[in-house]
Amino acid sequence: MTFDTAASPDTGPASYSIRQFQAGDAAALANVFKSAVHGIASQFYSPEQIAAWCPEAPPEEAFRQKMSDGRAVWVAADAADIPVAFIDLEADGHIDMLFCDPIAAGQGVAAALYRRLEAAAQRQGIGLLYVEASEAARGFFERMGFALDKRRDFERRGVKIHNYRMVKILE
Ligand SMILES: CC(C)(COP(=O)(O)OP(=O)(O)OC[C@H]1O[C@@H](n2cnc3c(N)ncnc32)[C@H](O)[C@@H]1OP(=O)(O)O)[C@@H](O)C(=O)NCCC(=O)NCCS
Repeated sequence: MTFDTAASPDTGPASYSIRQFQAGDAAALANVFKSAVHGIASQFYSPEQIAAWCPEAPPEEAFRQKMSDGRAVWVAADAADIPVAFIDLEADGHIDMLFCDPIAAGQGVAAALYRRLEAAAQRQGIGLLYVEASEAARGFFERMGFALDKRRDFERRGVKIHNYRMVKILE
């Protein structure tokens, strides 16, 4: 699926396509993860929290294994097929990861990925989607129809951090 994002007066229209994850995407997705945390989530968390969340891009092989463990993964790629964002869905309805490179943010890319995921979940008969949304993603999931379940306070690499468990019942 290819979609044109809304035209922006600053950057002009951009075109991204959505496809399934391929093993060769692992390094690019690990970099998208790091760029999203350091370039977007950093507006919502302290430098200490960001460093604890993502001290560096995850190793390619570890990321490949994670993305290939049976979960479904969709990737948004630019015209040169370079990944700019991704989302995953585990068999029980859990969304573990949603990350968009700052270069592609604010153009509807994550929404397009989410729509693809929700359609697949509907086809699989999944009745409930849930996510531990970061402070940077809470508004996005609200926009997608998720309801707040509870705030989660925990430690990552010894640093206090929080996110939100959010749920969406599918019809
Ligand atoms: C969350 C994230 C994936 C959204 O990506 P994006 O491509 O910029 O999102 P979209 O452009 O598709 O946004 C879709 C809608 O959600 C809204 N939205 C996105 N982020 C939002 C936020 N933080 N607060 C409120 N609304 C938000 C947009 O305004 C848009 O609304 P519209 O339909 O009225 O125009 C991106 O900000 C990101 O990677 N964040 C950092 C990483 C992170 O925290 N990931 C989540 C881990 S659970």
